[in-house]
Amino acid sequence: MNLGVLISGRGSNMVALAQACARDDYPARIAVVVSNQPGVAGLDKAAAMGLSTELIDHRDFPDRDAFEARLIELLQQHNVQLVCLAGFMRLLSRRFIEAFRDHILNIHPSLLPSFPGLRVHEQALEHGVRISGCTVHLVTEDLDAGPILLQAAVPVQQDDSVDALAARILEQEHQIYPEAVRLFVEGYLNPHGALSI
Ligand code: GRF
Repeated sequence: MNLGVLISGRGSNMVALAQACARDDYPARIAVVVSNQPGVAGLDKAAAMGLSTELIDHRDFPDRDAFEARLIELLQQHNVQLVCLAGFMRLLSRRFIEAFRDHILNIHPSLLPSFPGLRVHEQALEHGVRISGCTVHLVTEDLDAGPILLQAAVPVQQDDSVDALAARILEQEHQIYPEAVRLFVEGYLNPHGALSI
């Protein structure tokens, strides 16, 4: 299956997906990595791994609709069948969701439905949760609220800092995102989030 990976920054989850895709027995390949931000580290990392990269700067378009129309067109040109959001910092409208209905995944650094949105680790520490983690979910029009596909739990340690917690959770993100994509592509995860192994 052809993946289109959308990034806005560092791109470490994109790298984890690319490393998985490089394995012979992995059922997907990255057709294109697209960033909406120029000059980000993720674009350099993707190019260094020999991946096809594209920049679609949302500021070059008059509105969200025009930006997304170009994004859809580009993904279709690359025959993308599954869109993987990996630190992509733009909200997607109904139009985009419909274009890839039930075939858009996202990774979020908390155990959803706790702590959607931004400042995720700050929220976890403020609430004093003992366990946080990460979630791979299907993307719907509602922010960080689509059906959950896979999660990993990460204990919060006493005196944890945002950076320390984020780093431990990121390690798990790199494990579960490629695993969720594999399960999804192999048909073990249905569009309603149920695991059918
Ligand atoms: C990750 O923590 C991911 O869960 C969130 O944004 C961050 C992206 O990091 N959606 P990276 O660009 O993949 O390194």
